[in-house]
Amino acid sequence: MNKFLLFLLVLVANFSLRAQKISTINILADSLGRDISPKMWGIFFEDINLGADGGLYAELVKNRSFEFNKPLDGWKVLGGLKIYGLNINNEVTIINNPKANNKNPKYCQIHLLNTTKGSLGITNDGFRGMGIKKDLTYDFSILYRQNLAGKKIHLELLNDKDEIIGEKTIILMNIGHKWQQATTTFKATETCTKAKLKLWFEGTGTLDIDIVSLFPSDTWKGRKGGLRADMVQILADMKPGFIRFPGGCIVEGRDLASRYQWKNTVGPVANRKLIINRWNDEFAHRPTPDYFQTFGLGFFEYFQMAEDIGAEPLPILSCGIACQFNTGELVPLSELDGYIQDALDLIEFANGKANTPWGKVRAQMGHAEPFNLKMIGVGNENWGLQYIERLQLFQKAILAKYPYIKIVGSSGVTSDGPMFEMLDGNLRKLKIDFIDEHYYNKPDWFLANAKRYDSYDRKSISKVFAGEYAGQSDKVVSAENHNNWHTALAEAAFMTGLERNGDVVQMASYAPLFGHMDGWQWKPNLIWVDNLKVMATPNYHVQKLFSTNNGHKIVVTYDNSQKPYAGQDSLYASTVYNKITKELIVKIVNNAQIEQTVNLNLKGIKKWNSTVVHTVIQHNNLQAENTMENPEVIKPQFNSIALSNSLPKILIAPQSLNVFKFKLEE
Ligand code: AHR
Repeated sequence: MNKFLLFLLVLVANFSLRAQKISTINILADSLGRDISPKMWGIFFEDINLGADGGLYAELVKNRSFEFNKPLDGWKVLGGLKIYGLNINNEVTIINNPKANNKNPKYCQIHLLNTTKGSLGITNDGFRGMGIKKDLTYDFSILYRQNLAGKKIHLELLNDKDEIIGEKTIILMNIGHKWQQATTTFKATETCTKAKLKLWFEGTGTLDIDIVSLFPSDTWKGRKGGLRADMVQILADMKPGFIRFPGGCIVEGRDLASRYQWKNTVGPVANRKLIINRWNDEFAHRPTPDYFQTFGLGFFEYFQMAEDIGAEPLPILSCGIACQFNTGELVPLSELDGYIQDALDLIEFANGKANTPWGKVRAQMGHAEPFNLKMIGVGNENWGLQYIERLQLFQKAILAKYPYIKIVGSSGVTSDGPMFEMLDGNLRKLKIDFIDEHYYNKPDWFLANAKRYDSYDRKSISKVFAGEYAGQSDKVVSAENHNNWHTALAEAAFMTGLERNGDVVQMASYAPLFGHMDGWQWKPNLIWVDNLKVMATPNYHVQKLFSTNNGHKIVVTYDNSQKPYAGQDSLYASTVYNKITKELIVKIVNNAQIEQTVNLNLKGIKKWNSTVVHTVIQHNNLQAENTMENPEVIKPQFNSIALSNSLPKILIAPQSLNVFKFKLEE
């Protein structure tokens, strides 16, 4: 092709990639609008996708107390007499004795007779392997009892080639019927994502073992038996305003018996009765038969984590209705008292003085000061008048004793239609403080609903908690959903609508939070992890950009027809003023495939630091996503730009979320 023609083509192509039109975004900075909570952007945590056991809770041994339905799940017996690969000589047995301990009835009994190292042992595979780091110290502990002293346990940490990458021997000296704890530490010599732990037994006599545990020493804040530091850190980095826990459907249980009961999750870890995780075999396409809840991460730890990361705790409790996607079992109204008492006791656990019955439990766990709980949720995705009836009784009892507590009620699973209308109407009649709305929809829904709250009733006492939302690139519960830029950009556009209406929508959180690469049941998720790494999705970066650029006042932002930007020229915008940092923070989403020129009409501000911080997340390919191998395909870029006059012209990249921070000067 002739060079001149080529030049012309490139010129035309470049030209057509830029919109001709210049949009004006008017920002009424001289008349600060309604209040917005700087704590509005938060996080939703649920033990789904190995979020807690196998995830945040740093325990590396799966089924450490032999309490799974199949007591040797996660364990393999090495040596001993075998037929068809099964241990038949009863050298390694399981005893089940609920009379002796109904919280932890099963334990492993090993019979040794001049047994030498290497002839009888057990190995644990961890949760999809164990993530082990070179040179890091590991804390091993085990409960045991025996009839003859001097037995030895040889510990070996093995890499994926079965080579030893850490070892130690412990000698068990105490004898008798009482359980004893033996502990030791050792260093790993190699990094491995899928290691396993082997225990060889040596000696003679009977050896009972239980709660076989291995933790990395680099847990969050170095707490023994604590949480994975990298997973907490990535949450802390968001500076979340609140943290909702423990879910989600997990709150309700498939049936009432398997609902989340917070009282079973506090106190000594060994006394926390394990239950099956409701996501265990919820989805035929992603069965996870080894998914249980040990509650090593229980309500005390949730409150503590909330405090650590500066987030308001928001616990959600069962309202006496099991998950209505499953059994929908209802507790009769005459029996609801126990459920209500659980809520009242939880408030005492969180806020009561150390001399109250539940405050004492908290104090004994190491936190004499209250956790300063301000809100509580009753029910998750519950619907029908039975829900309203139950919620009303909770509300009456909670407010009678704790009038300062704000209550979150559920508006079901849909965000429109007759069921939603019925629930929303009734919740408003009850003057419930927050109405929990959920939206798992396609990106187009998020774009179209950026205006959703512009017309919401400002006078209603009830405010909105956008408690669970995520753009679905395919459809809800599909294994084909992706955390791609398309979903994240649409969420960003929607979030400008939430922010603009921050007086109505006072809290918002993406859901679910974590997904384990090898152990997920649900997609998409905000953060993906494997046994050693965490990976921020584009959706995470969007959430973080909003939560770390929050404000105290909404600043009216509109187009030349005085309409909020909610899709005109593919633009979406919102502005807040942060009175602490004295910054005017403008967020603009350009959903067009072309770069756009925008006049920012900053009305009423006279002086600002001419160096404006501009953060942008952008990608030309809406299907682009981050992967474990390539985790930074989409991430924020930070620039400083000089904008000094009162009508700065700015270029907004195609398919981008932009944050401009103007530091105001007197
Ligand atoms: O976030 C996953 C699930 O989606 C939650 O448990 C539930 O509330 C919703 O249906």
